[in-house]
Amino acid sequence: MGRQIAVFGTGYLGATHAACMAELGHDVLGVDVDEAKLAKLAAGELPFFEPGLPEVLQRNIEAGRLRFTTSYQEAADFADVHFIAVGTPQKHGELAADLRYVDAVVESLAPLLRRPSVIFGKSTVPAGTAARLSTRARELAPDDAFAELAWNPEFLREGYAVKDTLHPDRIVLGVDSTRKGNAEVVAREVYAALLEEEIPFLVTDLPTAELVKTSANAFLATKISFINAIAEICEATGADVSVLADAIGHDARIGRRFLNAGIGFGGGCLPKDIRAFIARAGELGASQAFSLLREVDSINMRRRNKMVELAREAAGGSLVGARVAVLGAAFKPDSDDVRDSPALNIAGQIQLQGAAVSVYDPEAMENARQLFPTLEYASDVPTACAGADVVMILTEWKQFTGLDPIELAKCVRQPTIIDGRNCLMPKAWRNAGWTYRGIGRP
Ligand code: UGA
Repeated sequence: MGRQIAVFGTGYLGATHAACMAELGHDVLGVDVDEAKLAKLAAGELPFFEPGLPEVLQRNIEAGRLRFTTSYQEAADFADVHFIAVGTPQKHGELAADLRYVDAVVESLAPLLRRPSVIFGKSTVPAGTAARLSTRARELAPDDAFAELAWNPEFLREGYAVKDTLHPDRIVLGVDSTRKGNAEVVAREVYAALLEEEIPFLVTDLPTAELVKTSANAFLATKISFINAIAEICEATGADVSVLADAIGHDARIGRRFLNAGIGFGGGCLPKDIRAFIARAGELGASQAFSLLREVDSINMRRRNKMVELAREAAGGSLVGARVAVLGAAFKPDSDDVRDSPALNIAGQIQLQGAAVSVYDPEAMENARQLFPTLEYASDVPTACAGADVVMILTEWKQFTGLDPIELAKCVRQPTIIDGRNCLMPKAWRNAGWTYRGIGRP
C-alpha cells in the first residue's frame, strides 16, 4: 500500500524524488517556497532539462498521486514520511556547505508534526549534520516521539535521474543508533518495489550514511583528476591518454568509467562536495587526510587554464580580436545545468582575454545567458562557428560528436578545432583539413 509522503525542495533532486515516489504508487506532496516553480511543476512542466522526467511527472499528476504546495502545515497534516531534498550549495567565499535550507526545513516542519513521523534527509551534508538535526527535530516537535530523523543519501546523476532513483545501485539508510525507531521499517515500505529487485539495502549509523555520499563523490572526482594528471604526462611524452584509459580500464579493479580526460568536472555536486569535505575534515582535525582532495580540486581547475592556453596558441599567440566558437555550455551532456560549468568558465576567460566568443548549446542556452550575459549566444552550430578562428568542443553532446568536419570547415575562417572532451575522431578531422588538438593525445 502506498504511503503519504512529502518531499521538501523541488529542484533536480526533489522534483525527481517526488515524481518517482509517486511512480512507485505513493501519494506525494512536493513542497517548495518558490511559487512560480510549483505552478510550473503542477502544470506538468519541468523548470530544468531531464530526459524522461516530464513523462513521469505528468503521468503521476494525472493519476492524482502527485501535488505541490508551499504550505508546511499542509505537508505535516498530509504526510508522515518526509524527505528533505533541498540544496546545500557552497558558502560564499568559503569551502564549507551552506546548510541554511536543510536547517530551515527541520525548523519549520518539526513544530507542526502531530503524529509519529519519519524525516529522511536526502541532501548531501557534512558528517555530523544528521545527528544535530535529529536532536533539533525532537526538541522542536510537540512530542519527542513525533520526529524521527534518518539519512538516506541520494546518488542520482543528472541526465539519468529517473533511472538512478527507480533503479539505484544501492540504497543507504543511516539511522540513529542510540535510539530505537521506525525509519528502517518505513524505508522498506517506501522502497518495497526496489527491494524486490534485490537492490542492495545498507543500514548504517548516521555519520556513515552521510560519509558514504561524500566519499562516493570524492572518489569520482579523484578518478577524473587522476586521469587528467595522467593526461598532463601524456602531453609531455606524446602518449595518448584515451588509449591509455581504455587499456587500464580493462582491469576490473580500475574500470573504464570516469576516466575520460578533458576539461574536468563541474556541476552542482562534485566541486562543492569535495570542498565541503575538505572543510569538514579541517573542522574535525583530520585536514591532513584531505590534502589529496585539495590536489584533486587544483588539478581540476588547472584544466580550465590549460584550455585557455590552447585557445591562445591556436589563435596564433593572442586572443585579442580572435573569433572563438564554443560548442557546449552545460557541465555535461543531456543536462541544461551550467552550475560551475567548466565550458562556460573557459568561454568567459577567453572573452576576458579579448576574443569574441560565440556559444551554442542544445539545452543550456537560457541558463548560460543568465549566468554569463556578456557572452554572445548563437542559435545553432553553423552560426556559432561562422568566421571562427578556433572552434572548441567543451561539452560532448551527441550533436557535436556527430558533426561533419567537411561541412563545418565551410563556415569557419580557419579550420582549427580544440576537443576539450576528447570526444572526436582526430583522424576524421585532420583528413578534412582541420588542425586538431585534444587533451593528452598527440
Ligand atoms: C554526480 C555523481 O555522479 C552522482 O552519483 C551524485 O549523486 C551527484 O553528483 C550528486 O551528488 O547529486 P552529476 O553531478 O550529475 O552526478 O554529474 P557526473 O555525471 O558525475 O559528472 C560530473 C562532472 O564530471 C561533469 O562535468 C562531467 O563532464 C565530468 N566528467 C565525468 C569528466 O570530466 N570525466 C569523466 O570521465 C566523467
